[in-house]
Amino acid sequence: MNKERVVLSGMRPTGPLHIGHLFGALANWKRLQDEGYRCFYMIADYHALSTEYASMRQTKYYTEEVAIDFISAGLDPEKSTIFVQSMVPEHTELHLIFSMIVPTPWLERNPVYKEQKKQLIEKDLNTYGFLGYPVLQAADILIYKAGYVPIGIDQLPHLELTREIAKRFNYLYGDTFPIPEALLTETPKIPGTDNRKMSKSYNNCIYLRDAADVIKEKVSKMFTDPKRVYKKDPGHPKTCPVFIYHKIFNSGSAEQIERECRGAVIGCTDCKRELGEMLARYLGDIRDRRKSLEKDKKSLWYILNKGAERARKVALATIKETKKKAGLCYE
Ligand code: TRP
Ligand code: SF4
Repeated sequence: MNKERVVLSGMRPTGPLHIGHLFGALANWKRLQDEGYRCFYMIADYHALSTEYASMRQTKYYTEEVAIDFISAGLDPEKSTIFVQSMVPEHTELHLIFSMIVPTPWLERNPVYKEQKKQLIEKDLNTYGFLGYPVLQAADILIYKAGYVPIGIDQLPHLELTREIAKRFNYLYGDTFPIPEALLTETPKIPGTDNRKMSKSYNNCIYLRDAADVIKEKVSKMFTDPKRVYKKDPGHPKTCPVFIYHKIFNSGSAEQIERECRGAVIGCTDCKRELGEMLARYLGDIRDRRKSLEKDKKSLWYILNKGAERARKVALATIKETKKKAGLCYE
């Protein structure tokens, strides 16, 4: 089957986006958009519901924030279809059809499912919907017949299930869906300011919406090489998150910093000041674009409504075809 050049990916609206999302995902999404792929980028609010169902008060706010982050990071609503999942109800129809053909052991043995149930103990995730999380994700991807899915490694087991579901549908009802491939990001993972994984719950993120002085303040408190107590001690940039940031954001002078850190020439305070200023400048353009969208929610919802309309056209055609193939056609 011709995969065309259709791309789909999504993020859950469970918080504002940080620089990990920018380099881990959005930069990749933008590249695909600019290379002329037909891109669908979705805010997965139903997926948020699957774990946050008891506390959805913030979801509308986060949905708007994520949409603003998408656009200000360079996703162009003229080129890419940017939309909210629950505004395209055909996703749920395809999810239901898939749910009839997916054997439950496929879902129960999914490592992401097992891991999350263990980790998110404060939530009751013994629900039908949470078990079916990857089935909905398969519907998200296959309803656009996407051949390419830019995701992080952590999402690979979900994509594997999408591929299995597509094959099973094709086997039962005839060739319908392409077997999509993951497009993994090549950028190294950005650590949090404390050198742990960057995560909202660790309070160690630099957000796209942070003001310049907030960024500088956060960077000034960053974790550095613990073996370097005094300026005269040689540093170990390879294990220092400040240096990892320098390498990503400051390709020009990263080599010099590496040399001066090892040779105990540059001190950590100066090294961080330089990074803070650069990062604030780097994120400045995004922040400027953010400001105009924040003020004009009407335009934002205009974009999201248009996106949903465009997505629905494709989704509707697939759902018609799918129902017909599965024997649900009464015309
Ligand atoms: N599960 C993804 C995440 O947590 C979000 C998502 C939902 C998604 N549907 C998708 C990603 C479809 C890629 C394709 O990040
Ligand atoms: Fe890290 Fe910079 Fe200090 Fe070296 S000089 S340890 S790279 S903060």
